[in-house]
Amino acid sequence: MSETVHVALGARSYEVRIGPGLIEAAGREIAPVLARPRVAIVTDDNVGPLHLARLQAALTEAGIASEALSLPAGEATKSWAHLQEVVEWLLAQRIERRDVVIALGGGVIGDLVGFAAAILRRGVRFVQIPTSLLAQVDSSVGGKTGINSPHGKNLVGAFHQPARVLADISVLDSLPGRDFLAGYGEVVKYGLLGDAAFFDWLEAQGPKLAAGDAEGRLYAVRRSVEMKAEIVARDETEQGDRALLNLGHTFCHALEAATGYSDRLLHGEGVALGCALAFELSARLGLCAQEEPSRVRAHLSAMGMKTDLADIPGPLPDAAGLLDLMGQDKKVVDGALRFILARGIGRAFVTSDVPRETVLALLEEALSRRAA
Ligand code: GLY
Repeated sequence: MSETVHVALGARSYEVRIGPGLIEAAGREIAPVLARPRVAIVTDDNVGPLHLARLQAALTEAGIASEALSLPAGEATKSWAHLQEVVEWLLAQRIERRDVVIALGGGVIGDLVGFAAAILRRGVRFVQIPTSLLAQVDSSVGGKTGINSPHGKNLVGAFHQPARVLADISVLDSLPGRDFLAGYGEVVKYGLLGDAAFFDWLEAQGPKLAAGDAEGRLYAVRRSVEMKAEIVARDETEQGDRALLNLGHTFCHALEAATGYSDRLLHGEGVALGCALAFELSARLGLCAQEEPSRVRAHLSAMGMKTDLADIPGPLPDAAGLLDLMGQDKKVVDGALRFILARGIGRAFVTSDVPRETVLALLEEALSRRAA
């Protein structure tokens, strides 16, 4: 009962398979993209113990030999040092141009291994097996790969599309609740940016998804991936519409930097909170009715998610400090902040035309609610 979303990118097209039990079916699923029956797998110390043995057994059963490397779990692994470790390990495994590297893990492993695959021998193919909801609905699809620099997140990288993505929704059962909800922040983002009916559906079904409903999870992942595939096919390298996928991210990146990329704020939590702020900003600029941000917050709050700066524990910079951190965002063009704003739920657009004072006032008010 797995489903397929096609990412249409000419010679770089690929399929995203979504369904339960795909790790057990990995041999059959991956064999069509292999030139020889041998792969290298990179995972992390949290995911490896849960899923690596099952993956290797499935590959062995299909006659595919595999070697595996496990890295420390966590954002700090998206570094130059671990990139070097992965590349040198792949070379030591004699991975050749036509071979396939498998990234088994969440967004950190997918981004790092995808980038290693992009630069190894000027590009080898890779397969994403995303094990977090966030990676299944966002980072494993679309070919953004990279590492962090001391100057900021994701500042070094390449567009390198995977040869296939296997989103096994059964693995979501082993995710801690907080991680599931953080990934759910990205799911909500899709409804907010381009599909009001999907947002309606999430309002009704969200609590069931969080409780483990497999059919609902399958639909939510498929619809999210379909939307992402459609946007990426239109604008692979983010010259235009792909920026819509960054709804909530300008606020999110500043808040992540302010909280030191720590577990005070997970990326998906920051995205959800950033979406709420982006809708609030849209309402203040007269682009949408005040009911829209209220509805966004009400859904996040019903899901038990962070909805406001007051929900972030520990100190934060003042409004000017947060605005300054937004200025470090990759989306800054000629010094102008780019925001994804909305004319309503499901109607997002990209703009640089946002007065700094309005953003500053919004942040000042949001920060004052923390003190209240
Ligand atoms: N995560 C945003 C993108 O892939 O473009």
